[in-house]
Amino acid sequence: MAKLQQQHSNAAGWAPPSVQKRWLLTLLIMLSVSTLIAFFIKSAFDSCDPPHPHNFDVAASNKPAKVFSNSIKTAPSPLSFMKSKLVLLVSHELSLSGGPLLLMELAFLLRSVGTEVFWITIQKPSETDEVVYSLEQKMLVRGVQVLPAKGQEAIDTAFKADLVVLNTAVAGKWLDAVLKDDVPQVLPKVLWWIHEMRGHYFKLDYVKHLPLVGGAMIDSHVTAEYWKNRTQERLRIKMPETYVVHLGNSKELMEVAEDNVAKRVLCEHIRESLGVRDEDILFAIINSVSRGKGQDLFLRSFYESLHIIQVKKLKVPSMHAVIVGSDMSAQTKFETELRNYVMQKNIQDRVHFINKTLTVAPYLAAIDVLVQNSQARGECFGRITIEAMAFQLPVLGTAAGGTTEIVVNGTTGLLHSVGKEGVTPLAKNIVKLATHVERRLTMGKRGYERVREMFLEHHMAHRIASVLKEVLRKSKSHPHS
Ligand SMILES: *[C@@H]1O[C@H](CO)[C@@H](O)[C@H](O)[C@H]1NC(C)=O
Ligand SMILES: *[C@@H]1O[C@H](CO)[C@@H](O)[C@H](O)[C@H]1NC(C)=O
Ligand SMILES: *[C@@H]1O[C@H](CO)[C@@H](O)[C@H](O)[C@H]1NC(C)=O
Repeated sequence: MAKLQQQHSNAAGWAPPSVQKRWLLTLLIMLSVSTLIAFFIKSAFDSCDPPHPHNFDVAASNKPAKVFSNSIKTAPSPLSFMKSKLVLLVSHELSLSGGPLLLMELAFLLRSVGTEVFWITIQKPSETDEVVYSLEQKMLVRGVQVLPAKGQEAIDTAFKADLVVLNTAVAGKWLDAVLKDDVPQVLPKVLWWIHEMRGHYFKLDYVKHLPLVGGAMIDSHVTAEYWKNRTQERLRIKMPETYVVHLGNSKELMEVAEDNVAKRVLCEHIRESLGVRDEDILFAIINSVSRGKGQDLFLRSFYESLHIIQVKKLKVPSMHAVIVGSDMSAQTKFETELRNYVMQKNIQDRVHFINKTLTVAPYLAAIDVLVQNSQARGECFGRITIEAMAFQLPVLGTAAGGTTEIVVNGTTGLLHSVGKEGVTPLAKNIVKLATHVERRLTMGKRGYERVREMFLEHHMAHRIASVLKEVLRKSKSHPHS
């Protein structure tokens, strides 16, 4: 593909429409939901690719031809010690949401080093669900063995396993429901991966076995600290050994993010579909639409920033707010409230609602600034933040949760407080980034550098590997196993 592009590029380095179309198609297909998992598979193979963390230029010029190459790298994976171990992964559900997809990434990373992997989904919709079916097929193809949540096979596998990974706090209910009296025997080899920090997860029902499991793995330091506090104060239980594992960007996302041609094609396509011009500035929230994610407060800030620009007579290109993650079919009160606000303030031509999608890369290619406005305790981690930084976007984020561990205030973005107090500061930050182009671009570059230093797939694989090693070591020395 890279070759094809070069041959057809015109003097400006820009492909004629027919080639653009093919590019776009290829990219959209590449990024579509159905192939997403295929990419995880590929990334599992590629996980041994030696990184170039200190050589941004080499990485940046690594053209997408790689995407289509079949070469399988041979450098050892940090997870190679898991070869011929048996791992049981227990997921609360099987869907295209963050938790299950992340666990599936782990499944494929483990498969790629020869681990025997079993998968259990606790909650399945009763009728045959298309998404569940296709995800299970993807796993079977990769040699992941899918088991029913209950029954003797599940119990036997839990006993045989070297390691049992419970994904999310709610998965805790599976232990008693299935293993019953045998729970204590399995606990020492349980690694509990926790991605949430809302109050309702702090129920003894879910987490009473936490103190005795082999370890807990949590996506950010703040969240780990929060779990420690809450379990102690609310439930009077003690957290087990807890490991913080920041997530990393997949290779596929990085490949698109580092390919300027792909980015331009996607950018042009999205901007055209939104009816915005090349020079317009786009601020976007990419998150499911809900009060916790703060789209309402963002719109207020956005409106206020337009007001500041008008009053101060600042010269800036036209500004737009993009809200990706809308779900009108759900007909929520909140969604209606957002749309009413936009009508009432008469900013319909400036605000764009985009349906929920897993394919975020085109939007990241098209926008100028990511707004991460999650409220209360913020995001547990917030994968979209590192994805946006990979696309060299500065982040305007709430000073809460995982965002504070990803965004360096003043360097890779600007932080504002959660709640109503944050509305005016965010408005001012929006104006700042709209008026200071240099600053905006520099922040984006710094963000990208930070991603290459800390938030790539191989960083995550290394971090997970050291946790697995530790839990295995401890469970082996336990009298029960
Ligand atoms: C946890 O509790 C300590 C002491 O009470 C407090 O300083 C800290 O801010 C709390 N952390 C979180 C994340 O709630
Ligand atoms: C977005 O979702 C709504 C409701 O589900 C649907 O009617 C609409 O066609 C979707 N829009 C696009 C562009 O897919
Ligand atoms: C972020 O940095 C700016 C200065 O660059 C400062 O004014 C602001 O208070 C900081 N915000 C937080 C939440 O630390």
